[in-house]
Amino acid sequence: MSTANASPSVKASVPPGMIARPGEGHVGAGVTLGAGALVHESAYVDDGASIGAGSRVWHFCHVNGGAVIGARCSLGQNVVVMNGVTVGDNARIQNNVSLYEGVELEDDVFCGPSMVFTNVINPRSSVSRKHEYQRTLVRRGASIGANATIVCGVTIGRHAFIGAGAVVTRDVPDFALMAGVPARRIGWMSEAGHRLDVVGPHAGDATAEELRCPGTGRRYLRRGDMVTPVEEQQ
Ligand SMILES: CC(C)(COP(=O)(O)OP(=O)(O)OC[C@H]1O[C@@H](n2cnc3c(N)ncnc32)[C@H](O)[C@@H]1OP(=O)(O)O)[C@@H](O)C(=O)NCCC(=O)NCCS
Repeated sequence: MSTANASPSVKASVPPGMIARPGEGHVGAGVTLGAGALVHESAYVDDGASIGAGSRVWHFCHVNGGAVIGARCSLGQNVVVMNGVTVGDNARIQNNVSLYEGVELEDDVFCGPSMVFTNVINPRSSVSRKHEYQRTLVRRGASIGANATIVCGVTIGRHAFIGAGAVVTRDVPDFALMAGVPARRIGWMSEAGHRLDVVGPHAGDATAEELRCPGTGRRYLRRGDMVTPVEEQQ
């Protein structure tokens, strides 16, 4: 993940309603804004937060002071990012998503509209569980569909795909396509976001099944629950 750079000095290029400098609007003077990062004037970004170069923070968002957001990210309307959350580069966080403490998103993660993270497994209003937050890691390139719920403490693997409305309760393997409540694996998804076709046993290795992306032709090998692009096996 790249770190934020100094703010741009060219005020004229800032679109109306957007803020490009710390200390303006509701963007604290102690915020680090990377070059070209823009925050809508209705959003709050607290002192200490870091937003990487070229990122966009849209209407009514709230980024807390301990949050670190990478470069070229988009935070849609009404996104909340709590303290301690890290977001890699090029993440797309759609409207109404809250990233609670304990959530970590690697690069290229897509969070669909109104999907839900959690950070306490057994909440009770009358019991403080602030020191029991569980970690949820979303690995590089994973997508989470609209209105899905991720029960805390899981890892969603690289390029995994969570269907709309799914409830994820367990770790998700790389490239897995998950759907339903509770979420079950219904297939495998390519890095490009196409459901992988099964080609058959891999030539020369009976323990591996060959899969193929219908969109790009890229080949993958599956051994049990482990899928990897063929070129990563060499
Ligand atoms: C999971 C998903 C990728 C599957 O797409 P697909 O491969 O084209 O799947 P199909 O539509 O062919 O459906 C295959 C089966 O899975 C079921 N299915 C599809 N999506 C499902 C979902 N989200 N939850 C439960 N079941 C689902 C279908 O009903 C169908 O079942 P059937 O074989 O018994 O009829 C897609 O449905 C989805 O949820 N995409 C996320 C969309 C989204 O949230 N976008 C956010 C940005 S706007």
